[in-house]
Amino acid sequence: MSPEHRKIGVLTGGGDAPGLNAVIRAVVKAGTNSGMEVIGLEDSFDGLLDSARSRRLTPHDVTGILRLGGTILGTTNRGNPFEYPTEGGKADYSDRVVETFGQMGLDALVVIGGDGTLAIAHQFYLKGIPVVGVPKTIDNDIVGTTSCFGFDTAVSFATDAIDRLHTTAQSHKRIMVVEVMGRYAGWIALHAGMAGGADVILVPEIPYDIEKVAAHIMRRDQWGARFSIVVVAEGATPVGGALTLKTAARPGVVERLGGIGEQVADALQEMTGKESRSVVLGHLQRGGSPTSFDRVLATRFGAKAVELVRRGVFGRMVANNPPDIVHIPLADVVGRTKTVPLDYDLLTAARSIGVSVGD
Ligand code: F6P
Repeated sequence: MSPEHRKIGVLTGGGDAPGLNAVIRAVVKAGTNSGMEVIGLEDSFDGLLDSARSRRLTPHDVTGILRLGGTILGTTNRGNPFEYPTEGGKADYSDRVVETFGQMGLDALVVIGGDGTLAIAHQFYLKGIPVVGVPKTIDNDIVGTTSCFGFDTAVSFATDAIDRLHTTAQSHKRIMVVEVMGRYAGWIALHAGMAGGADVILVPEIPYDIEKVAAHIMRRDQWGARFSIVVVAEGATPVGGALTLKTAARPGVVERLGGIGEQVADALQEMTGKESRSVVLGHLQRGGSPTSFDRVLATRFGAKAVELVRRGVFGRMVANNPPDIVHIPLADVVGRTKTVPLDYDLLTAARSIGVSVGD
């Protein structure tokens, strides 16, 4: 270990995801075993706006958190220090973050977050903070990594929900519409939909034609399948239509999506004459204990991040590139979204077994 990398900060930013604690645990354990002191920063970059919002983490502090959902450090998706929300609009507190980083005697920063948080991390790297990024999102839409921890847990939960909805849909001969998360990408909808045997899967990448969806359901009815399961990503849009919002974006706060499931259910009920119900899985997908896959991936990411700090390799994001954990420039990740490719084999498989994707 080079002597200048002795004290490292770790923070979690953006929406939480199952596996965040597993990363923190790995960073603390691997860091301590390499002779580093690890400082946990609370509520994303807020922990670097005020040094009182930080604490030393020892292996003792992270014992038992591997299986815990959420993050022991807290998180926020409103705390971009470059555009900090204030009463009158927004303010740039980024210099204060750099100062606090120095005053705390930190030598490096491990930032665990999604696209927004990693973009902020990159900006701080350009301002001189030695940063290593760890990708996190249940949406699985970060470029450069085949998977993010949290995704597998979200898919498992959504699959279980679809299984449960199947029996009630079948009993009542209804259409059940399940709205899952996925702002810009349909990974959760596609994977959970396929794992749960959905009849229709609507993703943001393919604008849907509701008439074609209704026709598909009526064809099922005619051959005797009197119920249908429709999985819709929150970011799905009808052909020529817009995102369904709960609240619009405002300074420092991104728009909140939600409601597409109910819209689809209402439209299908009207067009098919079949009783329809909708269920929003929402934040249930972000809670609970991470799956074994996510615990292992999170632990590998955390250990790799510490290895990079030890080697003095900064401005990078750890990434899954099976069978290896690799690292790529943060600059290659910022501002990009990994959507489901239209030639993705699972999409092709869906079509070939007769699942409607709404086109
Ligand atoms: O980015 C993950 C995600 O789960 C999105 O799919 C969803 O739109 C968003 O978080 C909701 O975040 P929050 O309710 O915390 O603002």
